[in-house]
Amino acid sequence: MKSDNGVPSHIAIIMDGNGRWAKKRLLPRSFGHREGVKTIDRIADEVFTLGVRYLTIFAFSTENWNRPEQEVTGLLGLFRKYLKSNEPKLLKRGIKLNVLGSRRAFDDELRTLVDEVCEHTSCGKVGTLNICFDYGGRADIVEAVNEFVEAGVKADEETFAERLQTHGMPDPDIIIRTGGEHRISNFLLYQSAYSELFFTDTLWPDFSGEEIKNIIAEYRKKDRRFGRINEE
Ligand code: FPP
Repeated sequence: MKSDNGVPSHIAIIMDGNGRWAKKRLLPRSFGHREGVKTIDRIADEVFTLGVRYLTIFAFSTENWNRPEQEVTGLLGLFRKYLKSNEPKLLKRGIKLNVLGSRRAFDDELRTLVDEVCEHTSCGKVGTLNICFDYGGRADIVEAVNEFVEAGVKADEETFAERLQTHGMPDPDIIIRTGGEHRISNFLLYQSAYSELFFTDTLWPDFSGEEIKNIIAEYRKKDRRFGRINEE
């Protein structure tokens, strides 16, 4: 959904390439993830300043639990740190934080922290930052299906979307994947039906405000037909 000035309403990002960024510098992978967190701030600043309403970032997938324990612990630690240190900045900039995904594997402390930061920032009117952590598109769909089965009611496309974790938000206009791979990796499977996809070789820690501005400029040239034809 483009706004009047052609700015996308919702941008979603698969932040890939942290490990390779670190490897190129002979550093442990954790350094790449740490650097990746700085990129989140840079890109969030850029897109919310441009007027984008929703930014959704894929920080940890349901499959990422299969990474080595040390890396999983490191990513959980970065997430915890991000939540602890970023609340004042989110409040100051009017950004509402949502955490999408299952919270079942979080310990009580992390679950409380997530709830608190989401609640404290819930009045943010400038934009919404969705962090997908322990998120999978398939899991999101299966949970919604089960809710309909349990309630004994049939779904339609609208009521189904309202049961997904992104309920109340527009579908992503743009999905970007950094790091050179061309796949969607279980991200926003239902919501991406008509998203414009952009793939860049840039590794996530190197992704810049300039590059996302260029992607938005490309997006603005697109003729989005949503299955229709455009009549002259
Ligand atoms: C993919 O790069 C990146 C991830 C699986 C994690 C992304 C996480 C962050 C940017 C930081 C943590 C997030 C928060 C919100 C604190 P990769 O490791 O698969 O890179 P590679 O393909 O080069 O190995």
